[in-house]
Amino acid sequence: MERIVPSLIASSQEELDERARKLKVCFFHLDVMDGAFVPNKSLLFDFSFREKSEAHLMMKKPCEWLKENAGDVDRIIIHAESDDASNAVKMAKASGKKVGIAINPGTPADAVEEYAKRIDKIVVMTVHPGAYGTTFLPETLGKIKQLRKMYPDVLIEADGGVSPETIEALRKAGADLFVAGSYLQNSDEPLKAKKELEMLVK
Ligand code: DX5
Ligand code: ZN
Repeated sequence: MERIVPSLIASSQEELDERARKLKVCFFHLDVMDGAFVPNKSLLFDFSFREKSEAHLMMKKPCEWLKENAGDVDRIIIHAESDDASNAVKMAKASGKKVGIAINPGTPADAVEEYAKRIDKIVVMTVHPGAYGTTFLPETLGKIKQLRKMYPDVLIEADGGVSPETIEALRKAGADLFVAGSYLQNSDEPLKAKKELEMLVK
């Protein structure tokens, strides 16, 4: 299993293509933002150049987005804090997608409970959502530990602030997958940086 998942945030198609080009991988975590759930806006561009990707919907109304845009990606991550999270999970499942439920740093672990039987992955935000390069929040490690105990068989993805300084603690807490944005994007050799992260959690 590839444990390091590169994330893409872009404000234009050009920027997206450039960021994607840096990483010759076939699976991306695409950050989609509506300017309301989080202050930044970054909607879906053309991702069809990648066979498999996940869209992380930082959106108040994910159902509206799903109706129009879900086609290009095969996995969807929906926030438990979204207005219509339960319906969005239903919709994404009905269209054959794998579904993850994400929780913000301030949201307790038990917010996942009502979705647990229907989802393929739990995404724990380890930064406040909305941008590349924000501060890692060590207090989220306890929540990962808690979720690992509650759901021993469900994949847990840590999203945000992943670097050589944080990844081992995240792994130890129980995370299986690690979304990395700025650490890879800011590296002179992003592929090498990704391999180095991989080695730390082998
Ligand atoms: C945060 C996004 C993350 C982001 C991670 O709002 O959901 O996926 O791209 O970026 P870094 O690794 O820079 O924290
Ligand atoms: Zn994300």
